[in-house]
Amino acid sequence: MKLLRPVLQLMLLCTTLALLGGWGRDGHAIIAQIAWEQLSGEAKAEIEKLLGESSLPEIASWADVVRREPAYEWSAPLHYVNMPPDAADYDPDRDCPPEGNVVSAIDRFAAELKDRTLPAKQRGEALMFLVHFVGDLHQPLHGGRAEDRGGNSIQLTFYDKDMNLHAVWDYGILEADANDPWPVRGERLLGEITDMDRVAWLADTHVSDLSATAGRWAVESHILAEKYCYCVEPGSSIGEAYAKASAPIAELRLKQAGIRLAAILEDCLGPGSAD
Ligand code: ADE
Ligand code: ZN
Ligand code: ZN
Repeated sequence: MKLLRPVLQLMLLCTTLALLGGWGRDGHAIIAQIAWEQLSGEAKAEIEKLLGESSLPEIASWADVVRREPAYEWSAPLHYVNMPPDAADYDPDRDCPPEGNVVSAIDRFAAELKDRTLPAKQRGEALMFLVHFVGDLHQPLHGGRAEDRGGNSIQLTFYDKDMNLHAVWDYGILEADANDPWPVRGERLLGEITDMDRVAWLADTHVSDLSATAGRWAVESHILAEKYCYCVEPGSSIGEAYAKASAPIAELRLKQAGIRLAAILEDCLGPGSAD
């Protein structure tokens, strides 16, 4: 498919994707890698048809590149959902603005990916958005508070570098803890996932009601953000202790995102999905 050539060129130009939001490029690639390893042959074949020469990890950060283009400006609010600090559930009337959010985006792009009557270009883009947004939704601060834009306006020092709290969670914690290149780390995380984990993480997953399901994942992110991300003083200096405490949470969210993304892709593209 022709769609992906310019996409990859654009991504090569953009070497510091981590600065653009979402998990950094490695986090999104790991989520896509974990998802890919779960898929049936049918779903993999459909994905290969839609992506041509590009792999699922390669396209996982495409949405972060295009959000800066005028033609895709509309997609910028779809990378996150804001909730009030004490929110215990996701309420679309309260939490979903008219332009949409990451929860409504997952619902929309899964439906487009599933719809075989749509043009292949549209379904290919829906796939690229879906892979990215399921990842974003699992970054706790992508379900953060509106008042600080998910931690973007909380400035601090992380390992002596000026950063904001949001960036610490997008890529700072994962980079601080990384000795291996992302495919090796992804394989390790994949190997840690047990059958019990799969059952637990998919327990409340209903692909036929994705907006409610994604809403529950948003609340998980929100609760993690309240408990583990926001426990820092703005302007303070954090480093190893914060990174060490946070890395297991960041890695758990990558694993959960991968397993749940696979469940959605399987529903959209797996055996029987075209009937
Ligand atoms: N902009 C506003 N809120 C945001 C959030 N929670 N995550 C990323 N970007 C945002
Ligand atoms: Zn994003
Ligand atoms: Zn982000």
